Amino acid sequence: MNDSQINQEQILDALRVVIDPDLHRDIVALGFVKELKVRNNRVSFHLELTTPACPVKDELREQAEDAVRKLPGIEAVEVTLSAQVRSHGPTGQNIIPGIKNVIPVGSGKGGVGKSTVSANLAVALAETGASVGLMDADVYGPSIPTILGINDQPRSGGKGMLPVEAHGVKVISAGFFVKPDQAVVWRGPMLAKMIEQFLGQVEWGELDYLVVDLPPGTGDVQLTLCQRIPLTGALIVTTPQPVAVNIAEKAIIMFNQLKCPLLGVVENMSYWESRTTGEREFIFGSGGADRIAEKWEVPVLGKIPLATTVRESSDSGTPIVLDEAGSPAAVAFVDTAKSLAAQISIRNIRAESEGLVSINF
Ligand SMILES: Nc1ncnc2c1ncn2[C@@H]1O[C@H](COP(=O)(O)OP(=O)(O)O)[C@@H](O)[C@H]1O
Ligand SMILES: [Mg+2]
Repeated sequence: MNDSQINQEQILDALRVVIDPDLHRDIVALGFVKELKVRNNRVSFHLELTTPACPVKDELREQAEDAVRKLPGIEAVEVTLSAQVRSHGPTGQNIIPGIKNVIPVGSGKGGVGKSTVSANLAVALAETGASVGLMDADVYGPSIPTILGINDQPRSGGKGMLPVEAHGVKVISAGFFVKPDQAVVWRGPMLAKMIEQFLGQVEWGELDYLVVDLPPGTGDVQLTLCQRIPLTGALIVTTPQPVAVNIAEKAIIMFNQLKCPLLGVVENMSYWESRTTGEREFIFGSGGADRIAEKWEVPVLGKIPLATTVRESSDSGTPIVLDEAGSPAAVAFVDTAKSLAAQISIRNIRAESEGLVSINF
């Protein structure tokens, strides 16, 4: 057997057994296998995933290696991983051409941790190697500069202004331009103008993900954002109280009306976990996100514990995913970021393949 030469076709065939668990298709059909080289039964290739935040990237690599190794006569297999984030829709439609995905983060009311979640998810995505922007559009309570420890103002440049870089994320905040007590009396057209400037006059550059921290509730900011640019999908942040459904529902209904799909729901302040016993206490009740998920058929992307360290890290300007990496709350945020990235990939792959003829898998 040893002198028979394996060819590329045989290798691709063997790799078809490896199925991406989120996208439900094999890695060959998905076009993940790149730069396949075979020489003297030594094989090397690239797996180009749809996000560097892929929750199962190590499993996929191992399965791909194993599948090729099983072929007769193979002497060595080398698999390298890379990622190319897929874009939401044709970028020509986008008024910000370099931005592949825009993800608004909304909630029915304030104080549920929308900004904390937005900031930690953005930083967690950037930590995986993705290029990430964060637009703080909460004119009534812009807290992103505090959470990310930003003291600088944006400088002028490019199309108008350059975002401020913090913890690997490009940031523009309403807080750079307005005092919250001013914004309370802003009328719709002024809010709309600010959002349009954030979209059209900020030199975002190439971004895989632009996370948008929206004001709570439903209003002109949400309306402008949804009407001006194609959005990949919204993330809803809720707390665990059973009544949270009614509150989060306002935001969900708004996104539905504005034809913005829902990527999922995050339950913040979900539980408190004792450091000594590991026991969980459900201080604010439980079931909020699950109820929303069931009623609106959206996935729960994560449940974040209530932890003093989350607040302390935010107040000190270094989000917990960096400040206490590896802590239960940080891990919950990182896992949530990966689930979010997976949902984005699922949507974009589905949209891409809707135009395809037929694929056998
Ligand atoms: N999981 C959490 N554990 C502890 N404190 C939290 C958590 N999430 C948010 N907080 C704190 O709750 C307050 C409100 O959070 P914030 O993100 O500003 O909410 P929102 O943007 O929805 O108004 C902040 O002081 C924040 O630090
Ligand atoms: Mg906020």
